Amino acid sequence: MTIKIAPSILSSDFARLGAEVAEAEASGADWIHVDVMDGHFVPNITLGPPIVKAIKPHTSLLLDVHLMIENPELYIEDFVKAGAGMITVHAEACVHLHRVIHMIKEHGIMAGVALNPGTPAAHVQEVLDDVDMVLVMTVNPGFGGQAFIPGTIRKIREIRSSLRERGRADVHIEVDGGITKETAPLVVEAGADVLVAGSAVFGREDRAEAITEIRQSLGG
Ligand code: DX5
Ligand code: ZN
Repeated sequence: MTIKIAPSILSSDFARLGAEVAEAEASGADWIHVDVMDGHFVPNITLGPPIVKAIKPHTSLLLDVHLMIENPELYIEDFVKAGAGMITVHAEACVHLHRVIHMIKEHGIMAGVALNPGTPAAHVQEVLDDVDMVLVMTVNPGFGGQAFIPGTIRKIREIRSSLRERGRADVHIEVDGGITKETAPLVVEAGADVLVAGSAVFGREDRAEAITEIRQSLGG
């Protein structure tokens, strides 16, 4: 699978979001990662559908919306209308995970399921036939700029192998948190193909150089 880089706008300048996503696209980003936090599922509050709607006209890239919220089923329609191309919900936040995934897919967009570092791969086994992506959190969600947790590599490998066994090799595995040019090769080797990078891209003056450095670390 071609490796995708998805800069997270969490580390961008919120006062100039439109310009920030346009610059990420011009710098070689593949998707734009949008972190939605509600102050309940995670101890931080970020943004909602109006911001997704506001950035949509500034990029042609897929908006990859990561919902770190409780009761995500209540907000799916709003995020779809705002322009999300993919919505990822946390397995830990969904009692009816299978139902929520299908609610997302019924809107004709891609659906992902996310796992916190402390949640075993087993929690997504029963929906691997239903999702377009599994998001393996490589930090505890809530904040940008945290250190990569190496123990998550084994889980990436385990999920990639389960997907292969099920004949679902086309399902993306996204990693999120602490991705840099040092950690990127490790997660790609384990089977990840979508790399979220917040501070490693938006924390740098030259975003094109930052994205190029991550790609070069993968030997491409
Ligand atoms: C963490 C968010 C991430 C965050 C990553 O809760 O889900 O997307 O922005 O930031 P970095 O790449 O700086 O670890
Ligand atoms: Zn995220």
